[in-house]
Amino acid sequence: MASDTSSVLAEDRPDAAASQAALQVEANAKFAQAVLDGLARPLRSLPSRFLYDERGSELFEDITRLKEYYPTRAETALLQTHGADIARHVGDADILVEFGSGSSRKTSLLINALKGLGTYIPIDVSETYLTEAAEWLAAQHDDLTIAPLIGDFTKIDALPETAQGHKVVGFFSGSTIGNLIREEANAFLRNAAHLLGQDSAFLVAIDLKKSPDILIPAYDDAEGVSAAFSLNLLTRINRELEGDFDIARFAHRAIYNEGQGRIEIYLESLTGQTVSVLGRDFAFSEGERIHTEFSHKYSLEGFRALAATASWRGVTAWTDPDGLFSLHLLRFG
Ligand code: AVJ
Repeated sequence: MASDTSSVLAEDRPDAAASQAALQVEANAKFAQAVLDGLARPLRSLPSRFLYDERGSELFEDITRLKEYYPTRAETALLQTHGADIARHVGDADILVEFGSGSSRKTSLLINALKGLGTYIPIDVSETYLTEAAEWLAAQHDDLTIAPLIGDFTKIDALPETAQGHKVVGFFSGSTIGNLIREEANAFLRNAAHLLGQDSAFLVAIDLKKSPDILIPAYDDAEGVSAAFSLNLLTRINRELEGDFDIARFAHRAIYNEGQGRIEIYLESLTGQTVSVLGRDFAFSEGERIHTEFSHKYSLEGFRALAATASWRGVTAWTDPDGLFSLHLLRFG
């Protein structure tokens, strides 16, 4: 008798198990390609979405609880304080669509505020996260239908047929849009307009520009959790792609690029060294960096202008008393 859930599933639904295995193979091939390409560039760079394997997702949850990392607390407080006002500006909505829903903890506050919501559609690449979040949310909200979509939220191009003719509100939490460079953010917002449709509303969390004295510790904390989160990407490459990175010979670096208004995160080689990944050698000089993440910060007007380039009209925005963080309500059409 199989003792774990996955083998029970594999026995009961052989085709589902096979297609899941095929998806896994495809995901591994994409990771391999991105890493080999990224390490071969003159300015080495790895896409930030690969930071979120199981361990990476756990470490990110730990980051959200750090005293230095203000965004999660600030956003939660905004949803608690302004929930009723947000609901008033959104108006009647039947369907809530969340992009990159992750663990959906903050979403519960929004669902409570948006009274009368019928369906919640979380979109995430992680099936594990989607299932857990759906169970947790279903337990909090009796009459809510939860209809998860598994996939990359920048690529999904249609809501289920059943969403046709309903009033839709989107939610993009966590200031995750900050990971994207300007052109990518514009493309994401355009795609979201197409997905959510005419007359939809979109609530977008945006981290605000502020002193590097606050920003840097948020991305390079005293306990080293942010560093562990970055370095875990090398551990993942070692495990999944036959890598031999010596983690002790790389360091996490977070800098604030004032001109671009963004935090830039790098893994810096502490010595000259050669690293092998899938049988290919990459020579690093001392001080050479691999870029892993951007976290863009906006002014209120700056984000409103960006949204406008993708046909979203800024209706209003809420900020905390310290001006650290913001929630923007946009409308399409
Ligand atoms: C998940 C993109 C919102 O940019 O603040 C935090 C990611 N990386 N610390 C952010 C992150 C390192 C985070 N986002």
